Amino acid sequence: MGLETQTNMVASGHQHQKSPPPSPPPELNNDHNLLFNRFKLRFQTPKAVIIFAMVALSCLLLYHSSPSVPFRVLYNPFAATKHRPNSEKKVDELKSILKEAATSSNTIIITTINDAWAEPNSMFDLFLESFKIGNVTQRFIKHLVVIALDQKAYTRCLKLHSHCYNLSTHGVDFSEEAYFMAPDYLKMMWRRIDFLRTILDLGYNFIFTDADIMWFWDPFPHFNKDGDFQIACDYYTGNPINLNNLPNGGFTYVKSNEKTIEFYKFWFNSRLTYPGLHDQDVFNKIKFDPIIRHNGLQIRFLDTAFFGGFCEPSRDFDKVCTMHANCCVGLENKVHDIRIMLQDWRKYRQVLGNQTAMVRSISWTVPQSCRGSFQRPRAPKKKEDVGSKS
Ligand SMILES: *[C@@H]1O[C@H](CO)[C@@H](O)[C@H](O)[C@H]1NC(C)=O
Ligand SMILES: *[C@@H]1O[C@H](CO)[C@@H](O)[C@H](O)[C@H]1NC(C)=O
Ligand SMILES: *[C@@H]1O[C@H](CO)[C@@H](O)[C@H](O)[C@H]1NC(C)=O
Repeated sequence: MGLETQTNMVASGHQHQKSPPPSPPPELNNDHNLLFNRFKLRFQTPKAVIIFAMVALSCLLLYHSSPSVPFRVLYNPFAATKHRPNSEKKVDELKSILKEAATSSNTIIITTINDAWAEPNSMFDLFLESFKIGNVTQRFIKHLVVIALDQKAYTRCLKLHSHCYNLSTHGVDFSEEAYFMAPDYLKMMWRRIDFLRTILDLGYNFIFTDADIMWFWDPFPHFNKDGDFQIACDYYTGNPINLNNLPNGGFTYVKSNEKTIEFYKFWFNSRLTYPGLHDQDVFNKIKFDPIIRHNGLQIRFLDTAFFGGFCEPSRDFDKVCTMHANCCVGLENKVHDIRIMLQDWRKYRQVLGNQTAMVRSISWTVPQSCRGSFQRPRAPKKKEDVGSKS
């Protein structure tokens, strides 16, 4: 995404964007050399490795021996940032929200919103509406935890939804306009990764979904049984384990286990290895890291036939679980096209109930405004109209 404001991006947690529009698979060679060097480096510092192992082991023991230890204790004390410990009260609040929202298998659905996305008739409203008009997706609303990144978004969330969490952000006001890749934007993106790690630490599996992803069918039957970390794609190669798939961090399904917790720590800490990159770009670097193979993390890429988007739409309305307004810059463009997307879906539902109509003739009439939104010059920026490509 070009210049973005965090406003839009933030809102959906990931907003995932790959910097230039659809690009070919990354250069493997470069990545491999880089990784190899880093790998070697690691082994040149055995002391650090040993210390790390000891710490990891003691954390593990702690984790297993006392599931009710305060959440702060579970935090990796060596996390690269100075993490301001959440107050006990915030942690208790989070725990109680998660407990209320979780499914019987300890899974929650998470999204993030900010002020601009939470405005009436904007993204958050459309997002909630998709659950209501999807095929039995309404039942997922009670498992949805909305992370509000600023005060206004939090207030609006409380009006519409029962599980809202006020993610306090010290020193950074995410409701303010800020440009993509500006320090505050990056800070926010990385904060999300750290927060999701927390969710895993607390023992919950999650689906993270950007709020510009509309839900139409139940996604659960289409996750890979053996995947620990599953991620949607802008472009799908046809093979769920091919690391050259171009993932989009706007939609992930992650099981809580030691492998995923370690992976999220590694991901978070890798921002220091690749300064200035956002989480999705860093993921594209580290997905080849031998450390991940060694850790045994099973990564699975989700088929765009079920988890589609404007980059590569799901063609079959009988299959489409989710559709992401990706390959699109600008909140206004996204909202415009998502509205039409929901209309297309409603038409499908109507026709489905009409024996005489031809169901197969239904197709998406989007993207419209989103098409080519990368190339168009930006409209003058209003607070809510700052481009976000994702
Ligand atoms: C969901 O889809 C099934 C299969 O097409 C259909 O029979 C059912 O009526 C739909 N239910 C709702 C609530 O849309
Ligand atoms: C939300 O969090 C912020 C930052 O900690 C705090 O200033 C604000 O009062 C909180 N709002 C509510 C309603 O709890
Ligand atoms: C059913 O489909 C036919 C053919 O497309 C159309 O003429 C008719 O108006 C539709 N009926 C309803 C109730 O939508």
